[in-house]
Amino acid sequence: MMQQRPRRNRKSETIREMVTETRVSVSNLIFPLFVMDGMGKQTKISSMPNIARFTPDLLYTEVEECMNLGLKSFVIFPAVEDALKDKEASYSWDPDNFYLKVIRGIKSRFPEVCLMSDVAMDPYSSDGHDGYVENGEIINDLTLPILGKMALAQAEAGIDILGPSDMMDGRVGFIRNVLDENGFTGTSIMSYTAKYASAYYGPFRDALDSAPKFGDKKTYQMNPANKREALIEAELDEAEGADFLMVKPALCYLDIIHLLKENSHLPVAAYNVSGEYAMLKAAGEKGWINYDKAMLEMLLSIKRAGADIILTYFAKEFAMKTKNGSV
Ligand code: PBG
Repeated sequence: MMQQRPRRNRKSETIREMVTETRVSVSNLIFPLFVMDGMGKQTKISSMPNIARFTPDLLYTEVEECMNLGLKSFVIFPAVEDALKDKEASYSWDPDNFYLKVIRGIKSRFPEVCLMSDVAMDPYSSDGHDGYVENGEIINDLTLPILGKMALAQAEAGIDILGPSDMMDGRVGFIRNVLDENGFTGTSIMSYTAKYASAYYGPFRDALDSAPKFGDKKTYQMNPANKREALIEAELDEAEGADFLMVKPALCYLDIIHLLKENSHLPVAAYNVSGEYAMLKAAGEKGWINYDKAMLEMLLSIKRAGADIILTYFAKEFAMKTKNGSV
């Protein structure tokens, strides 16, 4: 006789619900949004169906719709005109910068919102790199003061969580110091701790027109073959004052999410990136996969691996498709 029959715990929907170990809730999700300057316009991004770049007025409407669905956290990325880009990414801390205005605009319209920013040079850099470029090289220590100015400008605009995404060494500590010296002790930092040099960022670079003008990002983003290096990055970020650790991308890196969860007491986030979104959308459009079910399974797997928080382009659809905003 069999003593153990695991199927007994799967025999009805109610029992299956009772023994469910992992749940994804809309409160775990951060929705990335793209903003461009202007009025009354939205542009589709062909490699990211259902995601658009909005001018500020339309972005406010989008945020409002999400808030009504219970989705209250957003990470905002700017699409900057080429004419405003330079080597120092100086537009990023210009107080008249439309991105900073939008942040102020969202915060004043929706006091309950949680806003995360992107702290990196690439959307504003004429070189399209995340660091300061000299003779074809990315110079770490010349990048830090630029990140400091950008971070301070974003904190002044009211950002809740800064998201340094460039993988320069020492950036979390540098930014933390600048914030604290200027009285922004309450502004959080979600560090892109283990950000890999990945092919899955392609659609995002289409959205922002931010692809590097030469070379690749392998001298700063991590080698997809490496795992122990993620622990070095995590220890540094923690020591430098990060409030959250992030792994990016998510799906090919579930082991890294798990590793950081096991080795840190900080909340762990995962960025379910543009290429991961695009793949599922494409297969769904072709009728090759059940899109809704695959989306829920994908988010669940990222959470099960150890992510407390997921940055995902699926966030709004998830909020619309789930009852009470969770599964
Ligand atoms: C750059 C940045 C990137 C993403 C977020 N911030 C792209 C890159 O490193 O080239 C990618 C996000 C995505 O693919 O969804 N600072």
